[in-house]
Amino acid sequence: MSRSDSEFLAQYGPWALVAGASEGLGAEFAAELAGRGLNLLLVARRRPELEELSEILANEWGVEVRPLVLDLAGADAAEEIQEKTADLDIGLLVYNAAYSIIGPFLDQSSDDHLKELNVNCRTPLAITHHLAKRMVDRGKGGIVLLSSMAAFQGSPLIAHYAATKAYTAILAEGLWAELRESRVDVLACCPGATRTPNYLRSKPASTGPALVPVMEAEAVVREALAQLGRRPSMIPGPRNRIAAFLLRRLLPRRRAIAIMGDNMRSMYRD
Ligand SMILES: NC(=O)c1ccc[n+]([C@@H]2O[C@H](COP(=O)([O-])OP(=O)(O)OC[C@H]3O[C@@H](n4cnc5c(N)ncnc54)[C@H](OP(=O)(O)O)[C@@H]3O)[C@@H](O)[C@H]2O)c1
Repeated sequence: MSRSDSEFLAQYGPWALVAGASEGLGAEFAAELAGRGLNLLLVARRRPELEELSEILANEWGVEVRPLVLDLAGADAAEEIQEKTADLDIGLLVYNAAYSIIGPFLDQSSDDHLKELNVNCRTPLAITHHLAKRMVDRGKGGIVLLSSMAAFQGSPLIAHYAATKAYTAILAEGLWAELRESRVDVLACCPGATRTPNYLRSKPASTGPALVPVMEAEAVVREALAQLGRRPSMIPGPRNRIAAFLLRRLLPRRRAIAIMGDNMRSMYRD
């Protein structure tokens, strides 16, 4: 049974924090949540995009929207978010931002890999730890952590990115089990290729095999929010779910890695 907007607002409102909200999936989460009546704290690095989106959503939906310009790679990013949320009753966290390096592992500096670790693992861990505690104290809430289908097996050209996404998925699933008694719902959202500005900027040569179509951000977000509170993790799109079943359950591990590798090379090397 689908939840009404007022039920959603009662469980996950009155404020949501969307980390990585200036475009793509994050902006789509922000729009969908504003449409359901949640006030928003939106975090990203680019001020103009963030302020423009905040103004549009506030005007369109009559909710309060606060932009927060912040680099989530910074060592004190979580602390700053802690300060900026001190006066807000945050019922929902969507951690969407990611640093996704595509290319041979050794071609990137170790500093770049550490930055990827910060944005994708360290900062979301610290924010989740802080906000989950507050949600448990208030007896309800929700946390959506953006993982990826890349989390399901290793892959050349995104070896570290995929590892960070595996971390995210496993963290979310464990917390789903730990926090559900306190009525705090946790979900790992594991999309496949999704048409976002960041995905298009990565200039994939093809969109991969026909079995794995590129999804629209709106569909991903709607499916994810529908599954929050219903399962520990989800894969948007029926064809992505078939592909994941094949890769995770039917094929030998080394074959799944090889298929991911062929796919990545045909998209980014040839
Ligand atoms: N698109 C896909 O095909 C796909 C597939 C699987 C999983 N995912 C996952 O879905 C999520 C969203 O992906 P996306 O394609 O929409 O693009 P993305 O580049 O991962 O995220 C975009 C948003 O995050 C913000 N952001 C990035 N780095 C930041 C930082 N250091 N500090 C603050 N904000 C930061 C960006 O704004 P600023 O640039 O203004 O900071 C932008 O608003 C990611 O977690 C990604 O791993 C995406």
